[in-house]
Amino acid sequence: MAKISLVYWSGTGNTQAMADYVVEGVKSAGAEVDVFEVTEANADDVLKSDVILLGCPSMGSEVLEEESMEPFMEEIEGGLSGKKVGLFGSYGWGDGQWMRDWQERVEGAGASMICDGIIVNGEPSDDSVIDELKSMGSNAALA
Ligand SMILES: Cc1cc2nc3c(=O)[nH]c(=O)nc-3n(C[C@H](O)[C@H](O)[C@H](O)COP(=O)(O)O)c2cc1C
Repeated sequence: MAKISLVYWSGTGNTQAMADYVVEGVKSAGAEVDVFEVTEANADDVLKSDVILLGCPSMGSEVLEEESMEPFMEEIEGGLSGKKVGLFGSYGWGDGQWMRDWQERVEGAGASMICDGIIVNGEPSDDSVIDELKSMGSNAALA
């Protein structure tokens, strides 16, 4: 079975709530996932996974959180070729540009997306997006 890791950053809990639904999806498909808050994640260990799930809200001005998520991305970027990746994150007033840029970056590094990056305005409360997040998890388990 595929080895799956999930790494996230969340300042006020919205992206963490998204992560919880993704994890629920993985588990409902009978698989396991190693979950790390990004400051606890080791890039080399994460790169041993077949599937890497990454969560981060839009921060700065349509960028990844810069203290820990951006440096972590820089660390893993060179090893993403051939990996299956799922991206998700919450946003506020923007239009999701950070996610489009992030996905392009991951694809540019040679990874394939499990599905398009999932974005949520604020907290995940809409049933359809909750289903999408769970599906990302269950698709990760089947990857
Ligand atoms: C410093 C800071 C910068 C932000 N920059 C953006 C932004 O550029 N675009 C946007 O849509 N939302 C922006 N937001 C809003 C967050 O993305 C939003 O509050 C999100 O729900 C936070 O997710 P979290 O609870 O996982 O931390 C910003 C929030 C903060 C605190």
